[in-house]
Amino acid sequence: MRVAVWGAGKMGWVHGNAYREMGTEIACVIEKDREEAEQFAAEFQCAAFSDPGELEKQNVDIIDICLPSNLHRTALEKASEYCRAVICEKPVCLSPGEFDEIAAIQKKRGMKLMVGQVLRFWEGYVKAMELVRQGAVGKVRFVNCFRRQKRPSWSKGNWLMDEKKSGGILMDLCIHDVDYINWLLGRPESVSCQIVRNEDAVLHGIINMIYDGCCVNIIGSWGMPDGFSRGELSASLEIVGDDGMITYIGDDRIEWIKNSEKRQLDLEKKNGYKEELRYFLECIERGENPERADLASVKGTMEVLWAAAEAGRENRIVALS
Ligand SMILES: NC(=O)c1ccc[n+]([C@@H]2O[C@H](COP(=O)([O-])OP(=O)(O)OC[C@H]3O[C@@H](n4cnc5c(N)ncnc54)[C@H](O)[C@@H]3O)[C@@H](O)[C@H]2O)c1
Repeated sequence: MRVAVWGAGKMGWVHGNAYREMGTEIACVIEKDREEAEQFAAEFQCAAFSDPGELEKQNVDIIDICLPSNLHRTALEKASEYCRAVICEKPVCLSPGEFDEIAAIQKKRGMKLMVGQVLRFWEGYVKAMELVRQGAVGKVRFVNCFRRQKRPSWSKGNWLMDEKKSGGILMDLCIHDVDYINWLLGRPESVSCQIVRNEDAVLHGIINMIYDGCCVNIIGSWGMPDGFSRGELSASLEIVGDDGMITYIGDDRIEWIKNSEKRQLDLEKKNGYKEELRYFLECIERGENPERADLASVKGTMEVLWAAAEAGRENRIVALS
């Protein structure tokens, strides 16, 4: 398998390292910043281009899009001209119109498309899902998801803090937990959302996904103080059911209370990004659709996020049909 990585920023390197660990050939990188392109090419022993038109000559099996989110739709269309297997980082796009355009491009080209919704491959989240499916906590009633970090300053040109480019905290950060809950529990009946912004950006957000007999709170922050979590992202999950509770605090261990008894489940140390890319590569090798995170499977996630944005803007509960 020959891969082209499109965008050599933070995620381009994360994916590059995962391909290298799996022994997958990186044929080239497409990156507009010349210095970044050269560094990536030297590290991964691949060709470097700034013009995506060069992909025509590269004969790659997979294009991996790690560009700022507002560029995904256009890049997906371009990628579809050269390759029938594309993985795109989350969010796959920013608006409902873009989503429909991508779906039409995929259909026209017969392209296999997976979205980098990495919690579907993250050991702790996957195990928690398996436990729920096995009835470990009974009917799920109450879920809390936390995902918090300091204000982002690491993206190129600070595009993350520009809501037109990143979709802001809901589309960029809370998307992970919304996607996980959508995967775990399906479509909610309604959504509410509260956001707190300072003069230039939304820094804290709470999304409530409301189900029949169950409520989910998704708490995201880009406004934690220096010193919080040693400057790292901190994420955790609590799932409370009629018969027990699962807690995952992102440290390779799940705690599980059932019938008042506390158990502990040690998790295998796995890299979620590598698991995600391995799954995609295996699907493409077998000629299968990557259904675990294909475009159709993330539509519900995007619809919840668009509803949450509306709910936050208009300060009301938005029903999902
Ligand atoms: N799955 C996850 O956990 C996760 C984590 C972080 C980011 N992401 C997503 O990954 C994507 C990339 O984020 P990032 O943090 O790597 O951003 P980044 O700013 O670190 O990297 C983006 C790169 O794209 C390059 N670029 C921009 N425009 C280009 C163009 N027209 N042609 C070629 N190169 C171009 C930039 O120079 C930069 O090197 C985003 O969609 C983001 O939401 C996902």
